Amino acid sequence: MAKITAGVGCSHVPAIGIAMDQKITNQEYWKPVFEGFEFSRQWMKENSPDIIFLVYNDHCTAFDASCIPTFALGCAAEFKPADEGWGPRPVPVVKGHQQLASHIAQSVILDEFDLTIMNEMEVDHGLTVPLSIMCGDHGRDDSWPCPVIPLAVNVVQYPPPTGNRCYQLGKAIRRAIDSYDEDLNVMIFGTGGMSHQLQAERAGLINAEWDKRFLNMIANDPDGASKIQHLEYIREAGSEGIEMVMWLVMRGALDDKVTEVHRHYHVPASNTAVGHIILENRE
Ligand code: DHB
Ligand code: FE
Repeated sequence: MAKITAGVGCSHVPAIGIAMDQKITNQEYWKPVFEGFEFSRQWMKENSPDIIFLVYNDHCTAFDASCIPTFALGCAAEFKPADEGWGPRPVPVVKGHQQLASHIAQSVILDEFDLTIMNEMEVDHGLTVPLSIMCGDHGRDDSWPCPVIPLAVNVVQYPPPTGNRCYQLGKAIRRAIDSYDEDLNVMIFGTGGMSHQLQAERAGLINAEWDKRFLNMIANDPDGASKIQHLEYIREAGSEGIEMVMWLVMRGALDDKVTEVHRHYHVPASNTAVGHIILENRE
């Protein structure tokens, strides 16, 4: 049977992707950001997943204001990189896994979570930056190490889903993957965050104390983390801090008790607090 072996939480700051693409990760500014990911890349190689289920948000790239699905599951054979305003990063096309994605769509929708099925979708920095961080440098002509099933979550236009809805959806995704009849090592990524606000009076807001408490809760008190309300995310972590609800989809798909194998936190990268955690299921 397919099995979720581990979860990864990871920021998706676009400038991190650009630093990799421009090969300037050794600059003073970037060094401490990337040092914290060295363990992660080695760990990815050693634990090589067959499939990554990647929870991220679209930033008006695949979707504009004309259509904003709350949860959109990527069921296509491939997903082309694109980015709002910046143009696509020079990274490989992302290959999907249509059989498992269709199985997840059936299982989760019949489990009463109404996903939007995407048979065509472009993917932006929300997806490609965490992949680059975890899998290392990939030029346009290489390929990513494994297929990816994207799940795009609306955190751009109010109202986004609650943290608890994301957490419960993670549990439904776990049930779906557990019931897939092929031996596959599946990892789940929850991406975005941590605290940041890109706009208006509080632009530049970062709250390291709150971020670190969130990392502790994601590891050890996921039920508590799932109860955090929208107002708290926005007040404490800034308007874009709401991206962190996506980590709860990842956490819901893991065991209640997990082993934390790595954590990295650094301020700042671009306008954002970079947060990262690797959690393994114990069985
Ligand atoms: C930044 C962070 C984001 O999450 C994003 O989507 C765009 C920009 C930033 O820190 O610059
Ligand atoms: Fe973002």
